[in-house]
Amino acid sequence: MSTAIGAESGTPDASLERVSPRRLVSLYRQGGPLHALESIGRAAEGAVARIDLGPFRPYLVTDPAHVQHVLRDRADNYERGAVMWKPVSRLVGNGISSEGTPWRSSREVLAKVFSGQYIGRFTERMAEAINAAADDLLARATREPVDVRREMNRLMHRAISLVFFDDRLPVEDIDRLGTAVSAASGSFMSRMAMPFMPNAVPMPGDLTFRRATRTVDEILGPLVAEGRRRPPGGHDVVSKLIEAREADGTPFSDQRVRDDVVGLFVAGTESTADGLTWLWVALDEHPEHAARVYAEIEREVGDGRAGPEHVRRLPYTQMFLQEVLRLHSVGWAVPRMAVADDVIGGVPIKAGSTVVLSPYLTHRDRRVWERPEEFDPERFTPERVKERVQRYGRFAYFPFGAGEHVCLGEQLFKIETTLIMASLLGRARPVLHRSEPIEPKLTLTVRPSRPVELMLAARS
Ligand code: HEM
Repeated sequence: MSTAIGAESGTPDASLERVSPRRLVSLYRQGGPLHALESIGRAAEGAVARIDLGPFRPYLVTDPAHVQHVLRDRADNYERGAVMWKPVSRLVGNGISSEGTPWRSSREVLAKVFSGQYIGRFTERMAEAINAAADDLLARATREPVDVRREMNRLMHRAISLVFFDDRLPVEDIDRLGTAVSAASGSFMSRMAMPFMPNAVPMPGDLTFRRATRTVDEILGPLVAEGRRRPPGGHDVVSKLIEAREADGTPFSDQRVRDDVVGLFVAGTESTADGLTWLWVALDEHPEHAARVYAEIEREVGDGRAGPEHVRRLPYTQMFLQEVLRLHSVGWAVPRMAVADDVIGGVPIKAGSTVVLSPYLTHRDRRVWERPEEFDPERFTPERVKERVQRYGRFAYFPFGAGEHVCLGEQLFKIETTLIMASLLGRARPVLHRSEPIEPKLTLTVRPSRPVELMLAARS
């Protein structure tokens, strides 16, 4: 089955790939949920697929033109309130992670704080924090293997401590907050799979959720109260949220500030930790491309300290990162709910239906990407990007989403990741400890199926 690709959104083509419960179970049995997702994507070849999960029957939409239709051309008709997202709202409340007026007020404030220009003011201090944390990591990882995810979280928390809290929250508390948010996010997988289950009915993960949210509130409550007592004018996220106002002019409540900080942690920290973990796996698995990254960093940074100037001076390193996020699109599902009846690629979509976009599948579309399973940073030379955009539009590559909900943390991710690489790879080479290939696993994000252990060999 095939369907139109390219920028011509709404091409009439009534092909619908139906995925029955039997087929789904069989694919699941063959190789687990990610295998099932990939097989459905391959078979559909860009056609809209409908997955029959009993009472819940979402549409899977992967063609770049259809992605553009949902995220840009008819974005007004596709809200983020998809039913599978309901359990998440228990953790992140009503603000940046929601829809409508409260989302818009939060988005306005946070879009400024996370813009490249604004974040730029933190880059110098972020580089210092990352260099110091990298010194510590080098001292340990040259002696014994370390857990990549834990270490990347530590590095990231030190960098975001400035942007989020202007260093007012002890870094141990940021580590605790990160662990609690991660536990809470992981706890509602079963509720996401059964979104109609009332909260009053106990489900696996409920206790973890309650414990984790208690820790989050213990850490953020006093921080917000202290922020209220400080003179206005701070540049960090918490200060900006405390000074923010709702559409009707009332200041954000303490709960609202707390919800937005948690929303940022949920949206940003797991995905960053996963993206950074895949980065080390990719460096290990593709030595010929990794050698070009090392050569570039040696030339630009040497064994010195990473600084703000390096963020713009490492183009191949950036291409390598883009390719990591193409193949390992950690945010694999972008769900939406249709507000009114619509048609996507000739397929009628009823109001209230859930539509799931998947960067993971679009980034593997054979019609767009030659040999999509192959790791090749050259796909991201400026010429090839231009050519791709001309042929398929802007929605063939969207690891950070697109449209009005596009990721707020893209610049932050780019800056912190480049600084981490520049700081470590000028001085050491990574060696992964593993006996078998590292497979991807589907959770809220796509992450390595088991812990990744890293040693760093000091560069002679
Ligand atoms: C590898 C790293 C990251 C990836 C792959 C990623 C991916 C995404 C994607 C796909 C979306 C769109 C969701 C949708 O349309 O429903 C999104 C939204 C968002 N991201 Fe990220 N993200 C990353 C890092 C970050 C970081 C570091 C932050 C902030 C600290 C962040 C904050 C957000 C927020 C707040 C939203 C929601 C924006 C809105 O609804 O207006 N993300 N991200």
